[in-house]
Amino acid sequence: MAPATAEFVVIANRLPVDRQIEPDGSTTWRTSPGGLVTALEPVMRRNGGAWIGWHGAADERLRPFEHDGIKLVPVHLTSQEVAEYYEGFSNATLWPLYHDVVAPPEFHREWWDSYVEVNRRFAQRAAKVARKGAIVWIQDYQLQLVPQMLRTLRPDLRIGFFLHIPFPPTELFQQLPWRVEILEGLLGADLVGFQLPGAAQNFVRLVRQRVGHKTHRDSVYLPDNRTVTARAYPISIDTAGFEELARSPAVQQRAEEIRESLGNPRHVLLGIDRLDYTKGLRQRLRAFGELITEGALEVNDAVFVQVATPSRERVDQYRILRDDIDRLVGRINGDVGRIGQQPVTYLHASYPREEMAALYRAADVMVVTPLRDGMNLVAKEYVACRFDDDGALVLSEFAGAAAELKQAYRVNPYDINGLKARIMEAITATPRESRRRMKALRKQVVENDIEAWASRFLEELDAVSGTHDKKVRPSRSR
Ligand code: G6P
Repeated sequence: MAPATAEFVVIANRLPVDRQIEPDGSTTWRTSPGGLVTALEPVMRRNGGAWIGWHGAADERLRPFEHDGIKLVPVHLTSQEVAEYYEGFSNATLWPLYHDVVAPPEFHREWWDSYVEVNRRFAQRAAKVARKGAIVWIQDYQLQLVPQMLRTLRPDLRIGFFLHIPFPPTELFQQLPWRVEILEGLLGADLVGFQLPGAAQNFVRLVRQRVGHKTHRDSVYLPDNRTVTARAYPISIDTAGFEELARSPAVQQRAEEIRESLGNPRHVLLGIDRLDYTKGLRQRLRAFGELITEGALEVNDAVFVQVATPSRERVDQYRILRDDIDRLVGRINGDVGRIGQQPVTYLHASYPREEMAALYRAADVMVVTPLRDGMNLVAKEYVACRFDDDGALVLSEFAGAAAELKQAYRVNPYDINGLKARIMEAITATPRESRRRMKALRKQVVENDIEAWASRFLEELDAVSGTHDKKVRPSRSR
């Protein structure tokens, strides 16, 4: 066990590293390409930070180790816990419930028991790793009980929580048999962060109605004199990092190669998503297929590249979705394709950041149509890569990003005719109109990057939990 040395502790379901097996059979770890770790790395290095999380394999206990100057503290999960806590309660109960029940959530008491058990394990680990008065930042829906569990173990800590996914409307949240336990779990934090102001308001309202605490605006007043603050912190990306990558000669050349391999069509449309039923893949493919069938787009003129990253493959709803999408892509290509000309290029794979940047560079129109999404960072990544102020973003109004990316072509993904019309508008826009929109989008993403997000959260956590020692330096001096 790592000694209690960390001034700053991040707790997330996953560690920010992927395991690589080298040709000689040895194991190495590589930082995973997420924005969160990029943003927090400097804060962690300055403050002797530790990151607590699962390393992704079942039934394996690993010792804490150091990677790139950050202490990593692996939490083990048994295969039963992977099935019940991770695939079950996190991804077949909470995930669909929090995403507008676009798939029916399943409620099983044994899954809940496992969720409690694993949350306790994370809290206990953090209680051992954190120094007196340290800042602990807990991430996402898999760990909503950790704030309260950790506060009970270590009342000296300053605790923040951030929910990366939507927080549901009160009517839906009430379905959860363990709704009060979840609310009480979150109330262990000093600051509870959400993607959107509406989510923070839902949370405060639910606390008032279901737990019975006094509330005023973004504050909840607890009987023990503690105040919990709930606010919105829309997450972002490493904008400069993406732009730099997009500008690199290797990525630019790769973008040209991609267009060439597609037969140099006039219009390249792109979707990049985890293969998830919340992402609106069916709706967007149907819209594109119809545009071709109806002759609005020509097969040799337009190609839709859809990258679907494999995800949660043992959860039923994800298997069903995979079969559905396979069938739909097959049908579209079978119906309207010609020899050597497939309107949809479908890739069920995950790619490194360089290839993603090349795809963003190669695409004239990025189509992001989730039925519900906490934020959607792909939309922001596309914008970050369009340094020439060209390209167009079609964006669902049900993505958190729609609140900030106002100059996107906004769609209701359930409205297929509307979706078709917006795609055509994006495709046929004058260069002047495209530039006007993209310039404004880029301003937003450049000014609000992931570093600004992390600094703002940590500064406000510092302020609301201010009675303790202030040792952690949250923001980089610019
Ligand atoms: C979403 C969640 C994250 C999660 C990620 C990948 O973005 O908000 O917490 O890590 O999906 O899902 P996975 O189940 O593979 O961790």
